[in-house]
Amino acid sequence: MNRRLLMTLCCALLAWMAVAQQRTETLLEKGWKFMKGDVADAMKPDFDDKQWETVTVPHDWAIYGPFDRSHDLQEVAVTQNLETAASVKTGRTGGLPYVGVGWYRTTFEAPAGKLVSLVFDGAMSEARVYVNGQEVCFWPCGYNSFHCDVTPYLNKEGAKNLLAVRLENRPQSSRWYPGAGIYRNVRVVATEDVHVPVWGTQLTTPHVSAEYASVCLKTTVEGAGTKDVRILTQILSPEGEVVASKDNTMKINHGQPFEQNFLVDAPRLWSPETPYLYKAVSKIYVDGQQTDEYTTRFGIRSIELVADKGFFLNGQHRKFQGVCNHHDLGPLGAAINVAALRRQLTLLKDMGCDAIRTSHNMPAPELVELCDEMGFMMMVEPFDEWDIAKCENGYHRFFKEWAEKDMVNMLRQYRNHPSVVMWSIGNEVPTQCSPEGYKVASFLQDICHREDPTRPVTCGMDQVSCVLANGFAAMLDVPGLNYRTHRYVESYEKLPQNLVLGSETASTVSSRGVYKFPAELKKQAMYDDHQSSGYDLEACSWSNVPDEDFALADDYDWTLGQFVWTGFDYLGEPSPYDTDAWPSHSSVFGIIDLASLPKDRYYLYRSIWNKRDNTLHVLPHWTWPGREGENTPVFVYTNYPEAELFVNGKSYGKQRKLTADEARALQGKDSLWLQRRYRLMWTDVPYEPGELKVVAYDNSGKKVEEKTVRTAGKPHHLEVVADRTALSADGKDLAYITVRVVDKDGNLCPADDRLVSFTVKGAGSFRAAANGDATCLDLFHLPRMHAFSGQLTAIVQSGAESGNLVFEAKAKGVKAGKLTLEVK
Ligand code: GAL
Repeated sequence: MNRRLLMTLCCALLAWMAVAQQRTETLLEKGWKFMKGDVADAMKPDFDDKQWETVTVPHDWAIYGPFDRSHDLQEVAVTQNLETAASVKTGRTGGLPYVGVGWYRTTFEAPAGKLVSLVFDGAMSEARVYVNGQEVCFWPCGYNSFHCDVTPYLNKEGAKNLLAVRLENRPQSSRWYPGAGIYRNVRVVATEDVHVPVWGTQLTTPHVSAEYASVCLKTTVEGAGTKDVRILTQILSPEGEVVASKDNTMKINHGQPFEQNFLVDAPRLWSPETPYLYKAVSKIYVDGQQTDEYTTRFGIRSIELVADKGFFLNGQHRKFQGVCNHHDLGPLGAAINVAALRRQLTLLKDMGCDAIRTSHNMPAPELVELCDEMGFMMMVEPFDEWDIAKCENGYHRFFKEWAEKDMVNMLRQYRNHPSVVMWSIGNEVPTQCSPEGYKVASFLQDICHREDPTRPVTCGMDQVSCVLANGFAAMLDVPGLNYRTHRYVESYEKLPQNLVLGSETASTVSSRGVYKFPAELKKQAMYDDHQSSGYDLEACSWSNVPDEDFALADDYDWTLGQFVWTGFDYLGEPSPYDTDAWPSHSSVFGIIDLASLPKDRYYLYRSIWNKRDNTLHVLPHWTWPGREGENTPVFVYTNYPEAELFVNGKSYGKQRKLTADEARALQGKDSLWLQRRYRLMWTDVPYEPGELKVVAYDNSGKKVEEKTVRTAGKPHHLEVVADRTALSADGKDLAYITVRVVDKDGNLCPADDRLVSFTVKGAGSFRAAANGDATCLDLFHLPRMHAFSGQLTAIVQSGAESGNLVFEAKAKGVKAGKLTLEVK
C-alpha cells in the first residue's frame, strides 16, 4: 500500500470516527398516519393503519373544520370577565372540532448501539407515547416540550421501530382555540453512552460591560460513571471566530454539572436592536475518545430592575413595548411553521414592538429562536390556571402532580436564550384570591429561582384588591397588572417592589376596515354585524383603549411598560360577542387581524413605538355612499406633531398633539382629552365623496409628508401583492399574498365582500386563506374565501423543487390578479 493511499484511508477512518461520535437528530415529519377517534390496539406494531389518513407533522387535526356552534357550546360564567351568572357561550375555542381522541403512527430507525430519546416540542394533549407497542411516556400538558428515553424499547439494529401517539382533548379544557394533534415537531435524538442530555447546559453571563463579559457554562454529562471527563469548549463570536476557549478535565462531581468560565473581550451585546448571538461549542471526551458535541447558542446582555426607576437592559433604561400572543397562526391553526412565525415577527418589528409574552403557555422552540435572532425580549409564561379551575377540564386536574415537572422542562429548555428576560408563573389564576394562594405562587417562583437565578419572575394579576391585601403581589419579583390602569399608582405606592408591569394591557376591540358612528369611547359595544369599530375607542368592561397605557408609560418612571392584548387576532374568545353570538368565533382584540393584515391600531402603536421610521396614517376610508353630509370623524396616527386636513381641497384646520398638561386641562370638557395626546382627531367633518388629504408638519412648521385617501369607484380588478418575491425550495416556506378588490385607479373598495378563488401552479401549492372577519365560516384550507372590507390574504407554500410558483386570484365581476414567485 503506498503512502498516499494509506493517508487517504486514515483520513477517511478519522472522518468516519468523527461522524460516528456525533449525536444525530432526525425530524419525524412526513408519512405519519392519523385517525380521529379512539382505536383499540392502535399502539401495536402489527396494527393495520393503511386506511388512516397520511399526514405531515406538525399537524393540527381541527383546523380543517367545519366550524360549528355545537363544537364548543358552554354554559359558564367567565369570572375573569366580571360575570357572576352562567350564560350560554359560543365560539370560545374557535368553533372547531378540537375535542376528542386522535391517534398518530409512524416508524423510525435508530442507529445501532446508541442511546435514543424522542423529543416532542408539544402535542395537544394528554399524550401517551408508545414505542413498539410499549407505553414509553405520558405528558398531559399540551403546550410543553417533553422527552422520553426509548432505548430499552428499540428493535434490533436495522429494524424499524413503530411509534404510536394517542392524544385526547377533553371538552371545556380551554378558554381559546388550543389546536389539536402533534402540532409541533418531533425528533429522534441519538447519542453515545457518555453524552449531554436534552437541555443539558446552563449558560449565564455573570458580568457584562463594554470592555469584557464573563461567561459561565455548566454542562451536565451523563454516562461517564467515575471516569475523568474532558470538555473542550470554544466560544464563537457572531461571525464564527473563536473568541475564548477552555479545555478542562474533571472528575464527575457528585451529579453536579461541569463548570467552565470564559472571558469575552469587547462583547457585542444582545438587544432587540442588536440581536448578536454567540455559540459555545463543547466537545466531550472520555478515555481519549470524543463521545459528544453540544452547542449552546447564547447572547451577552444584562438585565436589571431598579425600584422606582424601572427596567434596564445593558444598563439602559427602557419600557417594554410588548404584545401578548396566543400560539395559533390564524388560518394555519396551531401547526407550527417558521415562515409564519417570522412573518408575524416582521410585522411586529416594523410596528416598533420589542417584546412578546407567550400567553398563557409555553412557546414553540422555533419562536424563541426567532426572538433571539430577530431581537424581541420575551416573557415566557406556562399557565392560565393552577390548582383552582377556570375551565372544568383545564390544567388544574394535573397541577399538583405536574406543575414542577412542567416548570422544570420550560425553564431548562429556554434559560439559555437571551431573548427571555422574565418568567411569568401564571395568568389571572383564581388562586390569587385564596388566602393560601401566595404559597402556590412562592412554590412556583422558587422553582424559577432554583433553575434560573438570573431572571425575575412575574405573574399577570387582575384581582388587584385581593393581591394587594393578601401578600400575593408583594412576594413576586415583579408585580404584573392585567388592565386596571386606574390602580397602577396605588399598587406602586403599596407594594414593596415600587415597580409595576403592564403584564396585559388594552384589550381594545376593533374590526379591520369597519367604522361605527358616532365615534365615541364605549365599553361592551355590540352591533348587529358582530363587528367592533375601527376608530379604536371601544373596549370590554374590564379593558381599556391604548392611550391609557401610553400615558402610564410616559408619565411614570416606575412603570415597566406593557404587553398589549394582543398582537394578532386569534381563534376563539370572540369577546364581546361570546354570549350566544354565533357565528363569531375569533377574537377582535388583535392589533393585526387573523389574516395578518394590520388594523388601523397598528399605526397608532407604530407612531409611538417605532422611533426610526415615520408614520402617517389616515382613517376611516372615504367611500361612504349614503353618508353625504353626515359627520364622519377623521383620525390621523402619526409621529409628526401636527397635521392639516383637507376634504376636496377645503381645509378643516390644523391639529397638534397635546402635552400631558394641555390634555389634562380638557378633562371634563372633552371626552377624548387623553386621546389628544396621541392622536390627531377632526371630529366634525361632513362626508362628501372625493379626496381626503392630510398634510403633516414638523416642529418647525415645515411641511414634511402628505397622505391622500380617495373615494373608490366601481370594483374593477383584484390587486395581488406578495410579502416576498422568492421562497426556499424546502417544502415549508410561505408567502402571504394580499388580495385587494380595487377600482380602475387602484383605490380599495372598502365594503367589498365578494368570493375570491385561487389557483396555484408550478413549484408550490395553496396552503390557506383568511380575511379577518370573526363571523366568517369559510374554511381556511379551501382555495376560496370572501373578501372582508375589500381584502383577504392567501398563503402559498413552496414545494421541494425549484421553479416558478404562479398564483392567480379570480372573482366574478372583476379582472383576475396574477403573480409569479421564484422558488429556489
Ligand atoms: C384577560 C385574559 C386573557 C384574555 C383577555 C381578553 O383577562 O388574561 O387571556 O382573556 O382578558 O380581554
